[in-house]
Amino acid sequence: MLSLTLAGLELRNPIMLAAGIMGTTGESLKRIAESGAGAVVTKSVGIEPKAGHSNPSMIEVDCGYLNAMGLPNPSYKNFQDEIDEAKKGGVPVIASIFGGCSLDFSEIAGALQADAFELNVSCPHAHGYGAEIGTDPDIVEDVTRAVKSSTKVPVWVKLTPNVTDIKSIGLAAQRGGADAVVAINTIRGMAIDIESGYPILGNKFGGLSGRAIKPVAIKCVYDLYDVLDIPVIGVGGISDWKDAIEFIMAGARAVEIGSAVGNNINIFSEISSCMEAFLEEKEWTLDEIYGMAHEV
Ligand code: SIN
Repeated sequence: MLSLTLAGLELRNPIMLAAGIMGTTGESLKRIAESGAGAVVTKSVGIEPKAGHSNPSMIEVDCGYLNAMGLPNPSYKNFQDEIDEAKKGGVPVIASIFGGCSLDFSEIAGALQADAFELNVSCPHAHGYGAEIGTDPDIVEDVTRAVKSSTKVPVWVKLTPNVTDIKSIGLAAQRGGADAVVAINTIRGMAIDIESGYPILGNKFGGLSGRAIKPVAIKCVYDLYDVLDIPVIGVGGISDWKDAIEFIMAGARAVEIGSAVGNNINIFSEISSCMEAFLEEKEWTLDEIYGMAHEV
């Protein structure tokens, strides 16, 4: 009842693991797949190994988490084994990749064997990467086109909310040939230790995730649904099945969960079964609630 085809991928349900959490090893990705996720997205990998920003790189705040990990990763050259191990979980494995230019992205996408790619043009705190290129529609279009010509698998583009008009970035991804967009990455934020007066994060600022950003993400999904022909995948603050339903009603074809996985690894199967019960009670299908909020 929850199965769907998403931009060429067959999913048993629309609830996927977001990039950045439990996505560094094949074992942890497989564990998430076995716990009920419809698909899993890896931690972002780039051209060369990267240690990331200094600690503290992730802290809990009142309303979620602030992270400035700094894209730590072992390089795509050391990552295929992890993807292969993750595939044993029996669900699509999407490789999140980042780079500083279209050549970086196409080198990685041309080399890795994944079921799809998610282009990270939205990390808010990595110099030369992420949102530093993902806020320019021309670069987003160029990067997307380059990746599309290096791989046959679907290409998703993960968008930053740290822009005036996310629709123009989504449209650029679509022009470049994206099969879907993912909205949203974290919102730029900061916390200060009042005992010392210093910023807490090693990088001083980072990206906010968790419950607080859900209304922002819902509005971004709603706006993107209005202007795009390709599917929108919703992510940002989803903590339970009601949040997932809300995203789908806003216009998300599927959703990704990040921060909330830290508290509950069974969240994927719990959300799926509650969603099914809700749809059955209302006598609605997944297709019927898709974009429902636009009908009023
Ligand atoms: C990070 O590794 O720095 C987080 C990734 C992201 O925000 O896209």
